[in-house]
Amino acid sequence: MPLLTSGRRVTIRQVTPMDTEVVQRFVRELGARTRYYRYCSAIRELPDSLLARVVNVDGRCSATLLAMVEGDRPATVAMGEYHAQGNEGVCEIALVVADDWQREGLGTLLLRELAVRASSFALRVIEGFVLYDNAAMLGFARRHGFRLGPSGFGPSIVRASKAIEGRARLREERISA
Ligand SMILES: CC(C)(COP(=O)(O)OP(=O)(O)OC[C@H]1O[C@@H](n2cnc3c(N)ncnc32)[C@H](O)[C@@H]1OP(=O)(O)O)[C@@H](O)C(=O)NCCC(=O)NCCS
Repeated sequence: MPLLTSGRRVTIRQVTPMDTEVVQRFVRELGARTRYYRYCSAIRELPDSLLARVVNVDGRCSATLLAMVEGDRPATVAMGEYHAQGNEGVCEIALVVADDWQREGLGTLLLRELAVRASSFALRVIEGFVLYDNAAMLGFARRHGFRLGPSGFGPSIVRASKAIEGRARLREERISA
């Protein structure tokens, strides 16, 4: 069970198609700013089409991981996804950590888990699209060696991209108990 820098522990599991309400509740309970930065839009919950995309993944070309806390009140505290783009070995990644769980290494943990998984399915580059004023994600991306540049979607969106490192190295770096 991975240990965060705060000493709190989470479990990471793959989403299933049964998780629509779990995911929707997590998204609804995010702080408005966190949700806005994740979805680049002032939504309160996921539209059905996006919710379906999140929970119906094949675990290879697309994957969604949930970080959960166990106990009396089990809850989802973070979610990470990737979706492969065509056949070019590129996948788009997106992360979101609940407000009270940010800056404890959880985003880093999910990034590494997703990268390990993506690399084992021949995906070689991960990229994300980030609002230009999203200081947390831009700091996170710099910290993890992403290259930042124009997205092609206008000046308010930055593309962050990075070649996936070797699987073994990523595994060594994982935060573990
Ligand atoms: C971006 C996000 C996923 C980071 O997750 P996290 O669990 O808080 O990040 P970590 O604790 O793993 O941070 C790793 C490093 O990223 C950088 N970082 C994280 N949050 C930061 C912040 N608020 N400001 C500056 N740098 C930050 C730091 O270098 C940090 O290392 P440090 O704590 O040792 O200094 C989280 O802030 C989030 O969910 N934001 C809202 C949703 C969002 O913007 N998603 C991205 C859409 S593309």
